Amino acid sequence: MYRTHSNGELRLSNVGQEVTLAGWVQKTRDKGFMLWVDLRDRYGITQLIFDEDRTPMEMVDRAKMLGREFVIQVKGEVIERVSKNSNIPTGEVEVLVKELTILNKSLVPPFTIEDETDGGDELRMKYRYLDIRRNPVRENLIFRHKVAIEVRKYLSDKDFIEIETPVLIKSTPEGARDFVVPSRMNEGQFYALPQSPQTFKQLLMIGGMDKYFQIVKCFRDEDLRADRQPEFTQIDCEMAFVEQEDILNIFEGLTRHLLKEIKGVEVADFPRMTYDDAMKKYGNDKPDIRFGMEFGELNEVAKHKEFGVFNNAELVVGIAIPGGNSYTRKEIDKLIEWIKRPQVGALGMVYSRCNDDGSFKSSVDKFYDQEDLAKWAEITGAKPGDLVCVLSGNTDKVRTQLSALRMEMAERLGLRKPNEFAPLWVVDFPLLEWDEESERYHAMHHPFTSPKPEDMALLDTDPGKVRANAYDMVLNGNEIGGGSIRIHDKATQALMFDHLGFTPEQAKEQFGFLMNAFEYGAPPHGGLAFGLDRLVAILGGQETIRDFIAFPKNNSGRDVMIDAPSKIDETQLKELSLRLDLK
Ligand code: AMO
Repeated sequence: MYRTHSNGELRLSNVGQEVTLAGWVQKTRDKGFMLWVDLRDRYGITQLIFDEDRTPMEMVDRAKMLGREFVIQVKGEVIERVSKNSNIPTGEVEVLVKELTILNKSLVPPFTIEDETDGGDELRMKYRYLDIRRNPVRENLIFRHKVAIEVRKYLSDKDFIEIETPVLIKSTPEGARDFVVPSRMNEGQFYALPQSPQTFKQLLMIGGMDKYFQIVKCFRDEDLRADRQPEFTQIDCEMAFVEQEDILNIFEGLTRHLLKEIKGVEVADFPRMTYDDAMKKYGNDKPDIRFGMEFGELNEVAKHKEFGVFNNAELVVGIAIPGGNSYTRKEIDKLIEWIKRPQVGALGMVYSRCNDDGSFKSSVDKFYDQEDLAKWAEITGAKPGDLVCVLSGNTDKVRTQLSALRMEMAERLGLRKPNEFAPLWVVDFPLLEWDEESERYHAMHHPFTSPKPEDMALLDTDPGKVRANAYDMVLNGNEIGGGSIRIHDKATQALMFDHLGFTPEQAKEQFGFLMNAFEYGAPPHGGLAFGLDRLVAILGGQETIRDFIAFPKNNSGRDVMIDAPSKIDETQLKELSLRLDLK
């Protein structure tokens, strides 16, 4: 037996017992006649003591050879410590070693295996197996496991069946590029890795499996960000014979279940907000509603004065920054510089200080009197001591810019509290969105989303105005899930492909299998998918999903540990009928 106990297990009640432990050497302290070793495993740290009076000399000598991260096994007796360490659960005892076996040596690790390490990102990724030995990384992986277990429990209890769908498939458009896999047996042909199991789960509904879920890897070749990885995991779900309301209820239940079981948090409100309202109030379809700073639209009170910038703008809109009146002129100038950076792209910012005596001092006093500025304050909800910041311009652009300012200020003011949770549904998304590059409409969600029946007529006249039965789950300013009620008849699906610019032949070639299936009794159905990585990160109080993935890719989509992607040899290329033509 390699070990009788883990390194997180021994307590005073074990004193006197003979135990066998195994693990990694965290550190050694050599006092000459006595030597201590901190022995670590997944469960904790146990202090070992080698004492020249009580440990065989041969073992003491062997202990002197130990280096960091050596793998060892010890046999010994649990004794009470003279100086106790109340910081760790095993801190009242130590193991007086009688026998030491070195199971394996270790090179000196390239960074310290401590909670705060000296290793940079790339180095930690290159030696991820060492990084995983560190508490924070290990705890994140265990945390992820707990979330996944609770998801399975909740859905299983509600009669959902976990079904695996294939990974070598044909492209499913979710808006990103596909990763493709050449087929050896079908010369010149390629599989695509699923961007999601979307079409398969719809086929499962047609197959009568009316509640499906799967914790599943998805692959998208897109630009990476803190909340995006080229391969990521979805909690993918679909239900038949349901309306939007049924789906929202079930998955609101799942979110509440997770918050309660994992975080011990019971959320009172689970609001629903239309996409239009979210854009109007927060300039964002994934609003962080843990704090106020809602937008106040100022067109009515700010236009038609002498200020040309506002008069020419489509939208004049502001927010109140709590306590912002305390900023110096210099600090406000810095804020203006921040908002003018290309990443945000505002042309400028107008502000109005709300003084404690109820008066105002704005950067546009020439055009606006106290009465005007009082209205700005009222509409943005500003109180004495606040700063009203106002942007103007094209509606969509200005909303995005003000949203960036809102989030930045909330971050700076510590209003984005990691242990406060504010979930909501954003509903009634537009069905289509205009793509400047290709100069045509794209499905905002995906082409299988059903338009709202009452908006169908607009498809021909004003496609951009058609709303969909589509919804997103938002948690703390992050989109953690999205879904829709699907089209389940061939004619509507064909109409949709037509609007998306597919010829009937292209639609048939790419999605004939689904359209055919619709002709064999497809039930009404809908569903959604959560991003597991994002969900776990946010529940864990963070926004970088990489920290919750065992072996993530870096920002260039590389696995620096195994060095992938990599070249393949000529024979393999030949077998796959591929010829590289690299410049
Ligand atoms: P969608 O494309 O919105 O919907 O994806 C669902 C959720 O998956 C997460 N997600 C990602 N997480 C990490 N890295 C990525 N690259 C990434 N891309 C998406 C997000 C997102 O909300 N088939 C539909 C679902 C449906 O209609 O049922 C779909 O995939 O949290």
